[in-house]
Amino acid sequence: MQPELFLVAVDGDRIIGSVMAGYDGHRGWLYYLASDPERRGAGIGRTLVAAAEQRLVAMGCPKVQLMVRPDNEAARGFYDALGYEPFQTWDTGKRLIPDV
Ligand SMILES: CC(C)(COP(=O)(O)OP(=O)(O)OC[C@H]1O[C@@H](n2cnc3c(N)ncnc32)[C@H](O)[C@@H]1OP(=O)(O)O)[C@@H](O)C(=O)NCCC(=O)NCCS
Repeated sequence: MQPELFLVAVDGDRIIGSVMAGYDGHRGWLYYLASDPERRGAGIGRTLVAAAEQRLVAMGCPKVQLMVRPDNEAARGFYDALGYEPFQTWDTGKRLIPDV
């Protein structure tokens, strides 16, 4: 929906990371961040999140947040290192179009 917030990190012709961000007018969201498994710990994730944050701020977005599965220790450690602070919500959802 917001292609300017779908960021891809490349090294030459090789994709080494990506993140999808979105701004709903109230909050910014980050989805599907990933870096090349062979190049983890080299700053790709941090760079992608910083680039997404910059674009969100430029759109006037006051806060960014995301959901992480509780057992994803790597993502939790990563976002801790970037200064993201956990908060409690009761998450719920409903599928509107069947997942094929
Ligand atoms: C999470 C992920 C994107 C991190 O990417 P990365 O390129 O390795 O991250 P960076 O190299 O930019 O690391 C940035 C900081 O996070 C920290 N960090 C990275 N992985 C970490 C881990 N597993 N545990 C704790 N801290 C971690 C780094 O130490 C670094 O801190 P520093 O700059 O203070 O040294 C990567 O592990 C990944 O793709 N995981 C699989 C997909 C996934 O789970 N995505 C999240 C979905 S919510």
